Amino acid sequence: MTIAVTGSTGQLGRLVIEKLKVRVPAGEIIALARDPAKAADLGVAVRAADYARPETLGPALAGVDTLLLISSDAIGQRLVQHGAVIDAAKAAGVKRIAYTSILRADASPLVLADEHKATEALIKASGLTYALLRNGWYTENYTGSLAGAVAAGALIGASGEGRISAATREDYAEAAAAVIATPDAESRVYELAGDVAFTRTDLAAEVSRQTGKTIPYNDLPEAEYARILESFGLPAPLAAILAQSDTGAAEGGLFDDGRQLSSLIGRPTTPLSVAVAAALAG
Ligand SMILES: NC(=O)c1ccc[n+]([C@@H]2O[C@H](COP(=O)([O-])OP(=O)(O)OC[C@H]3O[C@@H](n4cnc5c(N)ncnc54)[C@H](OP(=O)(O)O)[C@@H]3O)[C@@H](O)[C@H]2O)c1
Repeated sequence: MTIAVTGSTGQLGRLVIEKLKVRVPAGEIIALARDPAKAADLGVAVRAADYARPETLGPALAGVDTLLLISSDAIGQRLVQHGAVIDAAKAAGVKRIAYTSILRADASPLVLADEHKATEALIKASGLTYALLRNGWYTENYTGSLAGAVAAGALIGASGEGRISAATREDYAEAAAAVIATPDAESRVYELAGDVAFTRTDLAAEVSRQTGKTIPYNDLPEAEYARILESFGLPAPLAAILAQSDTGAAEGGLFDDGRQLSSLIGRPTTPLSVAVAAALAG
């Protein structure tokens, strides 16, 4: 069986390749990369595959049985890019496609879900066997900016008291590896999220506990949070989308208690305290 993984040079993709190598012989894995040189250290075969250059995709997918399509980071262009990969997979005779979607893509209040929902529809229409890996939020989305928050003396956001079932990239990568390493003739949808949900207030309390400083959570209106993200250097459209995602989280859009992720990986998802400690340790 040959398994190919797109986005193998990204933070999630690198972890997927690492986890996959534990489950299947390295000779059965192909890392697909926009820039193959960036994947040279992965210890598996590398092929060039650029979502935005469809002519690269057919050769990249030749002989591949199972494909993991890691969603592109080019928000706004993703449907076209993903569509090109799905078309190429079908043409190349790929049998099964897994895709990193978003938690409850079909019912999510997050604007970010639109491209995922549309991609899922293309995958279903392709006739390929599929595994939709509907990933919740990465814990790193929150812990990545902790140093700045501690320096500023407060956490900010617009997620109110919304409970967020985040898990680490490593947790999601292990789940993706488990799914694609296991042959399966059935199409499936997985809602993947952390075991223990937290609010931004819980996060601030954990950061306060670990730093010994009082770091409150200041909840902001969506537009104000977007303006502040923009002032940090984020492009306006991205700032708006991230702030809207927080509003969606406030409505429960990032909460899940189905525990399918821990069931797939055979262990609890990484606790918030562990992720916070890792982030604070730098
Ligand atoms: N669940 C969440 O909380 C969350 C948060 C952020 C993002 N995401 C989604 O999950 C995906 C993976 O997350 P991540 O943390 O691994 O993101 P990341 O580190 O930014 O990696 C993105 C990957 O996509 C590749 N890529 C971008 N454009 C491409 C193209 N035109 N052709 C081929 N490859 C292309 C990048 O290649 P290069 O190395 O060449 O740039 C990189 O390997 C993201 O792309 C995004 O869709 C989810």
